[in-house]
Amino acid sequence: MTARIIDGKAFAATLRGRVAEGVAAFREETGRAPGLAVVLVGADPASDVYVRWKGKATLAAGMVGTEHRLLAETTQEALLALVAELNADAAVDGILVQLPLPGHIDSAAVIAAIDPDKDVDGFHVVNAGRLAVGADGYVPCTPLGCALLLEDVLGDLSGLDAVVIGRSNIVGKPMAQLLIDRNCTVTIAHSRTRDLAAVVRRADIVVAAVGRPEMIRGDWLKPGATVIDVGINRVEDAAGRRLVGDVAYDEALAVAGAITPVPGGVGPMTIAVLLRNTLVAAHARAG
Ligand code: GUN
Repeated sequence: MTARIIDGKAFAATLRGRVAEGVAAFREETGRAPGLAVVLVGADPASDVYVRWKGKATLAAGMVGTEHRLLAETTQEALLALVAELNADAAVDGILVQLPLPGHIDSAAVIAAIDPDKDVDGFHVVNAGRLAVGADGYVPCTPLGCALLLEDVLGDLSGLDAVVIGRSNIVGKPMAQLLIDRNCTVTIAHSRTRDLAAVVRRADIVVAAVGRPEMIRGDWLKPGATVIDVGINRVEDAAGRRLVGDVAYDEALAVAGAITPVPGGVGPMTIAVLLRNTLVAAHARAG
């Protein structure tokens, strides 16, 4: 058996197309375009690439994208002042502060300073709380993108066994919440989990978000499982420099029912959901 390859790039393009239609309608109704402000502190090369992609996608969707690039030495006070300015700016519907921030800046304090109603990343504690209690709010883009892919592949997820590997606030925890909301039986595994292979083998759905190249092996998987690989790891070996996921892809292909590739799986969905969240924020703010 060879797994179905889940084409996140194509699915994301469809979603972006729908968002672009929504943006055109919003412009028609309100006379303005939704605005997304992206803040990058420092020059981390991976963050720089992500921010450029986000900027391009924002413009392609017909939104107004503004980029705020600050030096790595920027003080926390200066960053908080920029966030306050963006909170107060009527043309800005969504604010995204690219993580990770330099070590001298308290990321939690910066995220806490973002107006929760402009927090299109869904990182603010108010939005985490809204997700936890099932209230409307902004859901982190990567896990929401994963949930949309899973529903596209599997339809109704009710009753399925899901394992989320990784317990970060950005991916693992909200992912588990979204799967619970879709009636999955959810296990969250992490670095202290005993016999991870046995835990993974029970799962109909595996979401890998650990950031360790090819850690999840093909023979850990239940035959036919749906595998969502959130990892984007840069490796250099005999095959040259390349990106690999958290799952040993070639091994998994022979066992899984469906799997996301890296790149071209989850990554494009994150940006598409960011645009969707920004359009939702614009509508909410327009009343
Ligand atoms: N760094 C890696 N992924 C993300 C993301 O989705 N949002 C932000 N703000 N920073 C990130």
